[in-house]
Amino acid sequence: MAPSLLSERANLRDVSPMIAPSILSADFARLADEAAVVAGADWLHIDVMDAHFVPNLTLGLPVVKALKAATDIPLDCHLMIENPDRWAIGYAEAGAVNVTVHIEAAAEPVKLAANLRAAGALAGLSIKPATPLEPYIEILRHYDTLLVMSVEPGFGGQDFIVEVLNKVRTARRLVATGHLKLLIEIDGGINADTIEAAAEAGVDCFVAGSAIYHAHDPAAAMRHLREQAERSSAHWSVGRTG
Ligand code: DX5
Ligand code: ZN
Repeated sequence: MAPSLLSERANLRDVSPMIAPSILSADFARLADEAAVVAGADWLHIDVMDAHFVPNLTLGLPVVKALKAATDIPLDCHLMIENPDRWAIGYAEAGAVNVTVHIEAAAEPVKLAANLRAAGALAGLSIKPATPLEPYIEILRHYDTLLVMSVEPGFGGQDFIVEVLNKVRTARRLVATGHLKLLIEIDGGINADTIEAAAEAGVDCFVAGSAIYHAHDPAAAMRHLREQAERSSAHWSVGRTG
């Protein structure tokens, strides 16, 4: 997909880093209010966990549909579930802007990406910290977003695994050469201490759960993260066509 079309579909700004607060760290009894607290977020990140692909269990399609009706922030659904080939499409049909599945769980990832795009969503592919990028580069040519996990998926509040930035750098190079047309997203352990290294490596979109929702002032925490990312990504974002 041409970058301009990706931008249009994702409502992306051309070179500015994106911040996606993760509601995993929000108050699940007040999700609409918790979305309102981060008004101005680029995406709202929603972690769907099935207690099989990961040990934890969170929420599913009914809650995503309810959130879709309750907020204007584009919904970024991260499916940590088995059999995404069967279940991911529902999240696209519910109006999520981006639906991310795990390569470790997808049986037919190319077909799955086509189905997600046909349903009007961006197609996202995620890789766990120990999963290498190289075997999946050709599959990624069918995807719009790459979600690099920087913690083991399943829980918020874990420490950032810095080694995954090598995968970000590789993906960023492949985007720069035009081999991939992807938005690069990172998820796990992103906070004021880690976001600058991630931005320098070439991340476009930063998921942050505890660093935003456990802050005294979540909106201010989000603003601060955005400023840090903008400063640190400036050196490689110059000249990007968006
Ligand atoms: C973890 C989830 C993350 C989680 C990140 O499996 O995919 O989205 O919310 O939380 P923090 O930012 O606290 O590491
Ligand atoms: Zn996530």
